[in-house]
Amino acid sequence: MENIVLIGFMGAGKTTIGRLLAQKLNSKQHDFDEILVEQIGMSIADYFDHFGSEAFREIETKVLQQSLQLNGIISTGGGIVLKEENRQFLQNNPNVIYLQANLDELVHRVVLDKRNVRPLATSKSPDEIREVYLPRVPLYEESAKFVIDTTEKTPDAIVQEILDKV
Ligand code: S3P
Repeated sequence: MENIVLIGFMGAGKTTIGRLLAQKLNSKQHDFDEILVEQIGMSIADYFDHFGSEAFREIETKVLQQSLQLNGIISTGGGIVLKEENRQFLQNNPNVIYLQANLDELVHRVVLDKRNVRPLATSKSPDEIREVYLPRVPLYEESAKFVIDTTEKTPDAIVQEILDKV
């Protein structure tokens, strides 16, 4: 099977849906944040503190190039669409799915998620998160083949919708 790539803002469910999809398809999930933490040898928050976001984006691009060679479900990080180079990679992949949700819901999910410290969202106000989110929306849209609204849907329903599309 060709790979399925999940993109979308923080809190969109890329990791959760990716895990479920992989189970359902008896496939493997490749989760960006996990791969990145392994490669940088520290938490993403520490990496941002020490080296800044530009350095992080460079490593993220390398991970994207590596992971698109793999089979399975690829759960990207929310900032993957920021670089034009990455958007072109994504546009050349047949199964890129944008998991979308309304901003209130995304903010709610990010605030509830105590396991992940996200430098661009954790401890930020809803207005600050909105400023990160708004300019990214067209970038997600132009990078994806399919858009799925995840607001008020169960993970199982979202997975089914993806399977109906790919
Ligand atoms: C980021 C999203 C995070 C992580 C990092 C930066 C972003 O991944 O890569 O904190 O810029 O949107 P998730 O989307 O998996 O939270």
